Amino acid sequence: MKKICTVVGARPQFIKLAVVSRVLRTRFQEVLIHTGQHYDYNMSDVFFREMDIPHPDYNLGISGGTHGKMTGQMIIEIEEVLLKEKPDMVLVFGDTNSTMAGALAAVKLQIPVCHIESGGRIGTLDNPEEVNRIVTDHVSSLHFVCNPSCIEHMVKEGFTDSYYLVGDPMYDAFLYYSSRLDGSELQKLTDFSGRPVSVPERFYYMTCHRQENTDTDEKLDQIFQAMEMLPYPAIYPVHPRNHDRAQRLVLANHYRNIILTQPVGYITSIALVNRAERIVTDSGGLQREAFFARKPCVTVFNYVCFPETIANNCNQMARPDKEDIFTKLNANVVFDNDYQPFGDGHSAEKIVKKIGEFLL
Ligand code: UD1
Ligand code: UDP
Repeated sequence: MKKICTVVGARPQFIKLAVVSRVLRTRFQEVLIHTGQHYDYNMSDVFFREMDIPHPDYNLGISGGTHGKMTGQMIIEIEEVLLKEKPDMVLVFGDTNSTMAGALAAVKLQIPVCHIESGGRIGTLDNPEEVNRIVTDHVSSLHFVCNPSCIEHMVKEGFTDSYYLVGDPMYDAFLYYSSRLDGSELQKLTDFSGRPVSVPERFYYMTCHRQENTDTDEKLDQIFQAMEMLPYPAIYPVHPRNHDRAQRLVLANHYRNIILTQPVGYITSIALVNRAERIVTDSGGLQREAFFARKPCVTVFNYVCFPETIANNCNQMARPDKEDIFTKLNANVVFDNDYQPFGDGHSAEKIVKKIGEFLL
């Protein structure tokens, strides 16, 4: 049986791993390497438990620090594992530092790299994930593209016959786990002290964690001010990057419409998506899930990541400016129920089939 080493490290990768690994293990031996980039219980373990993801074979415990330090240390330690395991392929997801480190460690050992979520581009190297996307794509042998607009980028960068449009594993996960919700999920929300949070009947769901939006107080505060103007409260599970800032701003400004909670597991997150009035986020995953659930979304970011989601105001890009966010949250939105550019919910099967053909 051929051996595949999968490298993951961050929350969105655990979600994609859950659906891909389930199919991958029917045909291949998978060795799972967790870099440790995300490590809090509710940023890592909760996903493995709730989504039945196999326990990692290696956890390298590498997190925090500068991009260079984190990535460099990951390359060193992933290389050691790859030298020991001698896999036939290394599989990476998305655009985090763990993705790029896994790809670079593998290609230097002449192990073919398979990149899931290839071809996303926003057009600026100021975005740390863009660097990871470009480098990973260019050292990979097999590219899986989630949505049609990514093909243009692949073609522009000279890729010809190594990419496959298979749909989005995030959509696979959304369908699979949404059908298993039992209505108890929102009882799991807890505040920063671990006390249960009472969930209002109607609410907005917000997240904010991108480096670009968390470098100063100003941007998060503009988002909070927009949420304060809304008729219902906003539930905000706070990424650890923003924990102290969010708490300080809410207390100092006496914001009453913002419910801060600890980060939640995926199952609770999609329950929030399905129940929310609208969504405000800077997350790549959440803006797609809003689209999957037919919920209007405002994405606080200067660049369009998923052009397919923006027709008819379904997903509007906003500046970190309270008026801009508020106006867009009140826009008229029309979903075309027949338009589903993220596949059919079976991308994992297509990915595994192609890997099989590649490794023949
Ligand atoms: C990373 C990815 C980003 C992705 C996000 C998903 C990169 C460059 N960025 O950003 O693309 O959208 O994950 O959530 O790889 N921290 C904790 N506990 C944790 C995890 C992180 O306290 O469990 C702290 C870290 O110590 C660090 C900060 O949060 O100080 C940021 O973490 P990091 O992994 O560097 O970046 P993310 O913002 O999570
Ligand atoms: N998510 C989660 N718990 C949270 C916030 C988000 O499970 O507290 C999920 C969300 O539903 C989406 C994914 O995490 O599936 C997105 O991850 P994140 O926003 O951290 O990263 P990005 O997608 O921007 O890379």
